[in-house]
Amino acid sequence: MKLGCFDLMKEKNILRILHETLHAEHGSALEMLAACKATSRDNLVYGYFEHAKDEYIHTKTFKKILATRIENTHVEIARNYRFTPIGIIKKGYVDNNGFLIETLKLKDFVAYVYTNELLAKKSFERILKLIKDNKRDFDSILDIMKDELRHHGMAREYFLKYYPNLQPYHLFLYKLRETIKNKTRRIYYKNIEFLEIIFKPLYSLLALLGGYLLLKFNHYHFYRENINLMDISSKSLL
Ligand SMILES: [Fe+2]
Ligand SMILES: [Fe+2]
Repeated sequence: MKLGCFDLMKEKNILRILHETLHAEHGSALEMLAACKATSRDNLVYGYFEHAKDEYIHTKTFKKILATRIENTHVEIARNYRFTPIGIIKKGYVDNNGFLIETLKLKDFVAYVYTNELLAKKSFERILKLIKDNKRDFDSILDIMKDELRHHGMAREYFLKYYPNLQPYHLFLYKLRETIKNKTRRIYYKNIEFLEIIFKPLYSLLALLGGYLLLKFNHYHFYRENINLMDISSKSLL
């Protein structure tokens, strides 16, 4: 089916958001698995493991939703929305310096989970509006939202149990900090995408120039078979 200009833009936007969320979900799965491996307290190990399992299921769901939509898209567009594990680091969902459980204090880590699950739920609400025409995808995302709320509730319970002195405004501040970080990450990635658009023609030109020079290159001086090394031309590089 051929899409009009407006519909194509809308579809590209949906693909971009699904692609982004897919990386975010896989990033969460890895973070939770790392937390599970780094913890020795039984109840936490179990909680992190179940959370990691949910995030892997979310990743699989998003991969499926994205793949189905991509099947109906032109290959030139589709190739921009491939999932790559390295994309999780490039997009900033997992830090190059290590997993959060390794770089944050436990209190900050739980606060991070607490606030991010709530932010995830909000971004899923936006996705729901975009894909409301597809009942199957809509229901799958609704199920994910229920999981995210459950994760948020578990983190909140832990937080209030072990850090009862913290006031609600502390959690608000954590949430504000994460919102700003999310926005900064998006701006950073958009800048990289913009720079790629600027520099891609330059890279192509340099590659073309390099190819042209190689074509003009005289290979004669590189032949060594049955040649006395003392007779090799002084112009030779080898
Ligand atoms: Fe998730
Ligand atoms: Fe989650």
